[in-house]
Amino acid sequence: MRIKFEGLTKRFPNRNKKIKAEVVAVDNFTFEIPDGKLVGLLGPSGCGKSTALNLICGLETPTEGKIFFDDDDVTDIPAENRGVGMVFQSYALYPHLNVKKNIMFPLQNLKGDQKLTKEVMEAKALEAAKIVQIEELMDRKPNEMSGGQQQRVAIARALVKMPRVLLLDEPLSNLDARLRIQTREEIKRIQNETEITTVFVTHDQEEAMSISDLIVVMKDGAVHQIGKPQEVYDQPANLFVAKFLGTPPINVFTGKIKNGQLYIGEDMLLGKDYVKDVKDQEVFVGIRPEGFVLREGKDGVQDGKNGCFHAELLAVEVMGRDTSVVFSSADSEIAGTRHRAIVSSDNNVDPEAKKVAFDVNPKKVFVFSKESQERLI
Ligand SMILES: Nc1ncnc2c1ncn2[C@@H]1O[C@H](COP(=O)(O)OP(=O)(O)O)[C@@H](O)[C@H]1O
Ligand SMILES: [Mg+2]
Repeated sequence: MRIKFEGLTKRFPNRNKKIKAEVVAVDNFTFEIPDGKLVGLLGPSGCGKSTALNLICGLETPTEGKIFFDDDDVTDIPAENRGVGMVFQSYALYPHLNVKKNIMFPLQNLKGDQKLTKEVMEAKALEAAKIVQIEELMDRKPNEMSGGQQQRVAIARALVKMPRVLLLDEPLSNLDARLRIQTREEIKRIQNETEITTVFVTHDQEEAMSISDLIVVMKDGAVHQIGKPQEVYDQPANLFVAKFLGTPPINVFTGKIKNGQLYIGEDMLLGKDYVKDVKDQEVFVGIRPEGFVLREGKDGVQDGKNGCFHAELLAVEVMGRDTSVVFSSADSEIAGTRHRAIVSSDNNVDPEAKKVAFDVNPKKVFVFSKESQERLI
């Protein structure tokens, strides 16, 4: 099922009485979540992710705007009639009930002609348990299971009514690192098998990148970019998105476009072929760690269409396949930042050298307006 937002907005009164302005938790959402996909809602804490989920499932009512499930306007439909399954960060299982009863719980309050017999409820619970592969644990209590198993029970409980939409609010944050990776693969598998339109909320860019068909990057209630994970990484719309995706993070410098060429300090980085018709101005320049290529041969010779980049070498960290070259630059966006280039460990970098010179891969260099922070190149 497709979810469509039209001008969806949620404002809260500010809890800080001294501030009059309201908090805009969700700011004018106008986009579609395609049918049968897993969509990652990604952004820093407080950017409105949970509020967006609560609006989809009906736990919050919007201040303005509408939500459609396919062509049905569900904006005024109560949560229990929307056919949405929700999994929260804290699994919120009932500690005194075993797994089977926890999963069956949402079926027990159905009224009228929706009422189910005990046999049907048990069959549905077993079916949901099979999807998340916990059918052997049906008699356990929550405290007799690992965090990962408890989270599967919570997912089975959200699936038991066969929802039209599955919403997961930071479902992995209570798990340790290894279980997090296992469980996120599991969620991907479950979504693939059931083909239920799923919205997965996280502040962890790696998590969002690894399982989403489509990522929605948010900040301060607003959507900054929507795209496939690799598209958003390779073609960030603005400086915020570029900085939010990628580990180690993108390196950001101040620079300028002069005579149709891109400079960081004295170094000419991109020539006219890349700068094209962007007019002369001050800019921010983002370079991905993998965009640096150690310069061979004579240093400082501007030999081609694109120039090179000079920096102070701070450290060389050899880590198996890759080597991190840590450096500082007078032109850092934030003074004192330790920047990182990732190069193949086949390179021998002299850790005693005071200086380092790089060529750059133009595909990994992004140029942003200093004013709007929107991407120019
Ligand atoms: N019930 C509420 N009352 C007032 N402000 C709220 C309420 N719920 C959320 N907010 C505010 O709305 C913003 C978004 O919150 P939330 O959706 O929980 O963000 P996230 O899930 O991305 O961390 C925050 O500034 C938060 O303080
Ligand atoms: Mg939240």
